Amino acid sequence: MQFSAKVSDISKQRSACAIIAVDAKNRLGAAGRALDEVSGGVIGKILKRGDLGNKLASTLTVNLVEGPAERALLVRAADGALNRADFRKLAANSAGVAKDFKNACSYLTELEVADADTAWQAQQLALCAGLATYRFTRCRSDAKDNPLAKFTVHAPERGQLKAVKHGVEIGAAQAAGSNLARELGNLPGNICTPSYLAGEARALAKGNAKLTTTVLDEKKLQSLGMGAFLSVAKGSEQPPALIAMNYKGGKAGDKPVVLVGKGITFDSGGISIKPGQQMDEMKFDMCGAAAVFGVMRALLELQPAINVVGLVAAAENMPSGRASKPGDIVTSMSGKTIEILNTDAEGRLVLCDALTYAAKYKPEVVIDVATLTGACVIALGSHATGLYANRDSLAQELLAAGERTGDRAWQMPLWDEYQSALDSNFADIQNIGGREAGSVTAACFLSRFTEDYTWAHLDIAGSAWHSGAKKGATGRPVPLLVEYLLDK
Ligand code: BES
Ligand code: MN
Ligand code: ZN
Repeated sequence: MQFSAKVSDISKQRSACAIIAVDAKNRLGAAGRALDEVSGGVIGKILKRGDLGNKLASTLTVNLVEGPAERALLVRAADGALNRADFRKLAANSAGVAKDFKNACSYLTELEVADADTAWQAQQLALCAGLATYRFTRCRSDAKDNPLAKFTVHAPERGQLKAVKHGVEIGAAQAAGSNLARELGNLPGNICTPSYLAGEARALAKGNAKLTTTVLDEKKLQSLGMGAFLSVAKGSEQPPALIAMNYKGGKAGDKPVVLVGKGITFDSGGISIKPGQQMDEMKFDMCGAAAVFGVMRALLELQPAINVVGLVAAAENMPSGRASKPGDIVTSMSGKTIEILNTDAEGRLVLCDALTYAAKYKPEVVIDVATLTGACVIALGSHATGLYANRDSLAQELLAAGERTGDRAWQMPLWDEYQSALDSNFADIQNIGGREAGSVTAACFLSRFTEDYTWAHLDIAGSAWHSGAKKGATGRPVPLLVEYLLDK
């Protein structure tokens, strides 16, 4: 989709859909009044009938015959300033309708939003429009994309145009990154294998001077001593891959942020096999990896002057005669031995070796992203990503980035008291805790491998995809991570 920003005179602007706000008392803003005037007063008459719902962010499409816009898309706002969450609802709902028209221009930047400027509004409008147009068509024989091909955001004043442009660029890049993450997440396990992800990383680097991709194969992982990583891949016919994407936008000496994504392309549980119900959703167990790809895509669009390394630990977790068994003990790259009590706790096994490997980049910060625990879904549901960090300042920065984009996280404890749940009778550490605090003990496991640098862990088990009728990947936490990286 094409995004743009301009000072748009609604009385002359031709468009398939003009998105305008209506306050709680049925009053139009400046743009809405101007459009109504050149459209024969239809909008005002329809509003008087009470057809637009009173609930915040209700929408109504009014077909226009006179005037430059083919339709007015009315969106219910409030009396006075909106808060950011409410503005986001307006942005999302209007985008959900506008996606069916070939182009749209949003005038919602005229609204007043508490604690936010016009650039932020423009960013949200572009992000929501970009997200709304995504549709998974790859595996359908009757594939049809959403019609919306051009989305414009109105700058209320000439002096705001630069800020609106900037906001649109960031929102559009966050959406493009999220949509790449969704596409990879939605792909089935028989297509999206570790080798497929490696190919995707090579494709992303092609023609981009600032990005280089390296793929470490099984042999290389063996020579690095990644016994934990390899123990997960052992049961599968699909070879594992540790994929490194190196974005060099900053100076050669600038320490990078390293993002590490869990890329289990299908998680059957292995010998500790999962029950059949909803097992298909374990194709989404590479959504952490997908988010790392999404961030890389956004960086390529925005070209910020920073260094970022994306590491993807890709493997398939399957049962077979060659698979790891409960009770097996493996040696990780760090030298720590791990007793595998449950082969379904595989994410931490691939991640611990990838996290040890991350140290070679002498990182400023390492952030891993993983659909790590069902327990996190029980704790937080789907609205918040679980956030753990070994430095509180990093936790605060990530929380703030999530708040700004509306891709929110919630901090969980990494207290010493939880660590003893991982004591093993036979090895340095075991790969599961008890029944209690499953998301915390998984984070504790990872923390044993990240002591040498500043680190955060995002458990996206609940936020990375929707179940049920809306089943599909969300692209989270790409907006949060892009926001964090740009504001560093
Ligand atoms: N990929 C799953 C976590 C998961 C489960 C995410 C359901 C979203 C929905 C992970 O590999 C896993 O199986 N974790 C186990 C850990 C347990 C064996 C300690 C879990 O959460 O049940
Ligand atoms: Mn598992
Ligand atoms: Zn898993």
